[in-house]
Amino acid sequence: MAEPKENVLMEKIVSLCKRRGFVYQSSEIYGGINGFWDYGPLGAELKRNVKDLWWTSMTRQREDVVGLEATIIMAPQIWRASGHVDTFSDPMCDCLLTRKRFRADQIEPQSGTAYHYSGARDTGSGKQSEDAFAVLLPPGKPPESARKTAIQFYQQRGLAQVELLGERTEKVENSQRFNPDNGALLTEPRPFNLMFKTYVGPVADEDNVAYLRPETAQAIFAQFKNVLETSRQKVPFGIAQIGKAFRNEVTPRNFTFRSREFEQMELEFFIKPDEAIEAIHGSVARPSGPGHPGEPQANWGWQMWHQYWVEERIRFYESIGLARETLEEYWQKPDELAHYARATVDLLFKFPFGTQELEGIAARSDFDLSQHERFSGKQMGVFDEELRGAWAKLDDQRKAGLSQLYYEARLKYMLKMGIEKEKAGKEAREDADGLAKGQYIPHVIEPSAGVDRLILALIANAYSEVTSTDEKGKAETRVIMKFHPRVAPIKSGVFPLLKNKPELVAKAREVFELLRKQEQVFYDEGGAIGRRYARQDEAGTPFCVTIDFETLGEKPELLNTVTVRHRDDGRQERVAIAELPAWLQARVR
Ligand code: GAP
Repeated sequence: MAEPKENVLMEKIVSLCKRRGFVYQSSEIYGGINGFWDYGPLGAELKRNVKDLWWTSMTRQREDVVGLEATIIMAPQIWRASGHVDTFSDPMCDCLLTRKRFRADQIEPQSGTAYHYSGARDTGSGKQSEDAFAVLLPPGKPPESARKTAIQFYQQRGLAQVELLGERTEKVENSQRFNPDNGALLTEPRPFNLMFKTYVGPVADEDNVAYLRPETAQAIFAQFKNVLETSRQKVPFGIAQIGKAFRNEVTPRNFTFRSREFEQMELEFFIKPDEAIEAIHGSVARPSGPGHPGEPQANWGWQMWHQYWVEERIRFYESIGLARETLEEYWQKPDELAHYARATVDLLFKFPFGTQELEGIAARSDFDLSQHERFSGKQMGVFDEELRGAWAKLDDQRKAGLSQLYYEARLKYMLKMGIEKEKAGKEAREDADGLAKGQYIPHVIEPSAGVDRLILALIANAYSEVTSTDEKGKAETRVIMKFHPRVAPIKSGVFPLLKNKPELVAKAREVFELLRKQEQVFYDEGGAIGRRYARQDEAGTPFCVTIDFETLGEKPELLNTVTVRHRDDGRQERVAIAELPAWLQARVR
């Protein structure tokens, strides 16, 4: 059966993470705090490598993306404009018996017989409770067990000798209204806002409420104009940010997968609206089939850019060791899309607990900048000289057609946001007139990834076991973390063959000092060489460098060479110390 095996794998991963210092429970000495995790020495290096690789590929290696590092607490109006204050919630319900909290949409559907009670009476005191209650029993369970649970419920309400009132039964199919642990009725689902609230300044009142950001994206939109004016970028261009995000998840679960504090790596890539592209280039390039569409072109419409970023992100994952086969593309159906999204692709990874979202790539139209323009009263649009020039050369029919399309899109947005019809029509007309003068609000494509989910995916992907039998016939299972060398927390281990030979130790320290100038290296002289290899295999170190007597010139032709051992297949080769830095660099970059 697949399920228990997968749970066993997750248990092994969680245990390895703690044992080797990848991930610890936050505040563990106080019993932990649900939904919060700390990264130990190996985890911290792994995380840093992943963030550096994302940052390098997204910003430094691109001319059309710049970076931002914004604060976690921002003006609370930002979260009104973004819709988070009103709509960023999950449906939540509580068990009426134990008070345990559930995310209503994640409850396993159950079938059976529900025993309903209209209330209960205390046969001793005569006191009565009119609270209705119900218990769901799976097929085959005796009614007595429902009554026992119901009696507990009324005892909690102060009745000592409980007589249940108004018992009736009902057949129930696939219901999410009962606690799967004990069958007790749950409260009606109610929305629970996921933002953590705090107060800015010494007075804790409603005027000073602020929120810990639930995503890094909004700071990018809020700073769009500043970045545009100071970076000399022109649309199309992107702004990238890595940083903490906080969500008071109702049920954090699956280790770090759903945490309450986590990190995001987000890019907001701003593009021209399709009407502007058509005015400038005569037509809009749209995808002709699946796959990477190649180098960006000036006539790309939003669908082309969307496909481009989906493919770019998959390539990134491949470059750090997540093969395409471990990922799945899920194109959200129209009824699943967020209200602002034109299309969203979720990149899913096959985690041991199921295939789940690693990253979302959304085409968010001009929703975000439009919202901030309305809420802040500050212009968020851009002026495009090329568009103004091109528009002037269009014939009247083309002008009218494009203007009408733009008007309709703007009107649709405003009506969706509840703006009164007449006002919306007037503003949409002004926007369409603006387009003719070269003005528009950029649209955006957003690849949004979670660092912690990616770390978990990399750990799950790297985890492998080998079992060997020693000369006494005893089987031993060892773990090898087969990280791609680019993300591996330690790039090489350096060992003297024997620790009691000062010449070997001195040479090994020399090699260690040489290599640590360029990358994360671990020096180890403790225990047999096999044990040292095994320790590095568990840490995921791709290469181990051993300094032996041949290094010192026991065989003159091998003087100043070392043995390099490969993690994944145990292969060994001889490399000259002088060539070692470049040899390693070529393999870990
Ligand atoms: N700005 C868009 C946005 O935030 P999202 O799908 O809510 O979209 C993006 O989040 C990514 O952030 C997810 O794909 C996931 O990797 C990560 N993420 C979201 N909630 C998370 C949580 N509670 N714990 C860990 N990672 C989370």
